[in-house]
Amino acid sequence: MNAPRILSGIKPTGRPHLGNYFGMMQPAIAWQDRGQAFYFIADYHALTTVQDAAALRQHTRDAALDFLACGLDPSKAVLFRQSDVPEVTELAWLLTCLTPMPMLENCHAYKDHLARGKVPSHGLFAYPVLMAADILLYDSNVVPVGKDQKQHVEVTRDLAEKANRIFGPIFTVPQPSIVPEMATVIGLDGQKMSKSYGNTIGLFEEEKALKKKVMGIVTDSAPVEAPKNPEVSSIVALYRLVAGEADVGVMESEFRAGGVGYGEFKKRLFGAIWETFAPFRSTRAELAADPSTVEAVLADGAGRARAVADQTMARVRQAMGLR
Ligand code: AMP
Ligand code: TRP
Repeated sequence: MNAPRILSGIKPTGRPHLGNYFGMMQPAIAWQDRGQAFYFIADYHALTTVQDAAALRQHTRDAALDFLACGLDPSKAVLFRQSDVPEVTELAWLLTCLTPMPMLENCHAYKDHLARGKVPSHGLFAYPVLMAADILLYDSNVVPVGKDQKQHVEVTRDLAEKANRIFGPIFTVPQPSIVPEMATVIGLDGQKMSKSYGNTIGLFEEEKALKKKVMGIVTDSAPVEAPKNPEVSSIVALYRLVAGEADVGVMESEFRAGGVGYGEFKKRLFGAIWETFAPFRSTRAELAADPSTVEAVLADGAGRARAVADQTMARVRQAMGLR
């Protein structure tokens, strides 16, 4: 088999957090050695929430910096801005015409929005179709994402199969790739870590702010001497992501034995998070000092992404009777 085409995206809606890193960025970076990887900053998608031009531009550049700082290697993977290849919006329309409304009515981001009593925009409703266009435009085989995106990849598969039945084999049907231990990273309050819940731990927080957040993790009120259950603790769940196996073993047995308070465990967790991201912090500072590097990476990525997109669109327009 040829090397797989791998594709994923991240929305530039704010600072990346541990959920983004362990759920998507780290697995995506690992994939860059195993095939042809295409990663992009989903600025069109961000417009459903970020409606301030300067902020969107800033978040987009920041997201590219973050990805590079965390180890994305532009000599291996293509890094680009979604809006640098506007054909994706054309493909989204073509797919929209094949998309049954009930399929979108069943998608969780839309349902959550309704459940919170908010009025969803058409963009939020149609979000999974644009995401399908992202994936199909680049003939992707593998899509590394966190568990919350699995449903969107299923929508993509359904649309690709439907289009292939109607118009002939125009699309590659993708597979999601979800790392089970990283599927859902827990936030400060024990729910899924998410920008929209305000419970995130950022990768690049200032030391003091990071410490304050970690010390604020919600726990039960078990006293220092009481035995505690490591299997239900957010502290242990997060520590497993950033500490070595031996250190995790020590924390788990101290939980069970009692005699150590949550404050002490939180300090240890803070230390491990701080250390884990230390090398990325220094790379990020170096990259940030020279904005032209990031711009050059994105410009080169746009060219490489467009070359693939042009071929797909020529094939799709032909098959669908356009032009
Ligand atoms: P977003 O910030 O919504 O664009 O998410 C970018 C990527 O991070 C997606 O692949 C998500 O599935 C992943 N992700 C976001 N939050 C979490 C979480 N709490 N646990 C695991 N993966 C996550
Ligand atoms: N919807 C994804 C998220 O919120 C971001 C995204 C947009 C994406 N297009 C994509 C992820 C295509 C994978 C493939 O996280």
